[in-house]
Amino acid sequence: MSAKYEATVTAPVNIAVIKYWGKRDSALILPTNSSLSVTLSQDHLSTRTTIRASPDFGKDRLWLNGVEEDIAASKRLINSITTARNLRAALEQKLLSEGAPAETVVPLSKWSLHVCSENNFPTAAGLASSASGYAALVKALGVLFDLPQSTSDLSRVARVGSGSACRSMFGGFVAWQAGVSDDGHDSFAVQVADRQHWPELQALILVASDKKKAISSTAGMQTTVETSELFAERVRSVVPKRMEAMQRAIAERDFGTFAEITMRDSNQFHAVCLDTYPPISYMNDISRSIVSLVHAFNAARGRVAAAYTYDAGPNAVIYALKDDMRDLVELVTYCFPRDDSTLLEAFYPNSFAIFDSADQVGQRLTRPEVAQLAETAGKFPPGSVRRIIHTEVGDGPRVLPDSESLLNDAGMPKHAKE
Ligand code: DP6
Repeated sequence: MSAKYEATVTAPVNIAVIKYWGKRDSALILPTNSSLSVTLSQDHLSTRTTIRASPDFGKDRLWLNGVEEDIAASKRLINSITTARNLRAALEQKLLSEGAPAETVVPLSKWSLHVCSENNFPTAAGLASSASGYAALVKALGVLFDLPQSTSDLSRVARVGSGSACRSMFGGFVAWQAGVSDDGHDSFAVQVADRQHWPELQALILVASDKKKAISSTAGMQTTVETSELFAERVRSVVPKRMEAMQRAIAERDFGTFAEITMRDSNQFHAVCLDTYPPISYMNDISRSIVSLVHAFNAARGRVAAAYTYDAGPNAVIYALKDDMRDLVELVTYCFPRDDSTLLEAFYPNSFAIFDSADQVGQRLTRPEVAQLAETAGKFPPGSVRRIIHTEVGDGPRVLPDSESLLNDAGMPKHAKE
């Protein structure tokens, strides 16, 4: 049997605390402003991707969650695959020119690819599936092609697939430097702090909808750039100051500052969406009541103990320190009671105890206090929040062993859907 040239990886989701919104170059995906995000644990949210190269494959093919997609219809897929292939071709050239025997330099750059990718969360529901998807694609290509480029270099390749994907190439706290050049060489991701830096920081994801969003980020941000007057001010003066202050807050593990900037930046991003003409509105009644709830919680604590942030969809991500998470979960599950279909998922061994035992959760807030705070949000019918994920800061893309491959011996998806 001939050798198999294949790589399987997983890549994480990242949630921005300073938002990327707006491109100065749509083809190369160059942003109008820098942004900063937290990479979340892959134990709950990740994309797994297997890529195999073979001289026997007739053409490049890609399956997403078991369904074949048309690569030719996606400029972004073509751009990222072609960019990685060009890097491989350059490597093959270099090795040959340095005198490596031809039989040791496998011409992977000339072979077709089968790409198989699976998410463990709903696609396009505002949970950054394109970020983990393109990061997994590029990481797998980097491993398969044995590319010598650094992670920041490879983040440029992920960027041409989807802007926010460049930040999913690292774990921990990650900045995407906007850069100023026209060719994009200075627009890439860097790690600001690794995942161990702030172990007390946790995230609670509240999925208010798993429907596909009405206006994609790509289309929405383009209209914002063209029509919003507020947006220019954000790019010119607000974001640069926030990038600096946020990096300082992370370095000093200053949760109060981290949280306030996070909330303000989410609010401004959605304000800029409303200032877009015609306006774009991603948040719904549930999202807005979670905003009120978090502010009420912070007022009750007498300090900024939790921060919400929303991307291009109604789902909330709440950042809080471990010690405040119990009360927060209690509050959220009180306002948004579960029904039989609600999914509770937790990373921490004790999280299910938090969710399941009312006795344990009321350690700081008493039941009457919870009820009183909950009045600011209002009560919603059971099941309004469909999925609650309790997670933490996570690592960057992981390389998996061959046994975790998503492709069978023939190079076809193991879990194909009709
Ligand atoms: C609101 O990265 O999905 O999540 O570059 O067009 O693929 P494209 O957009 P995308 O935009 C993400 C926008 C955001 C904010 C953020 O993640 O920074």
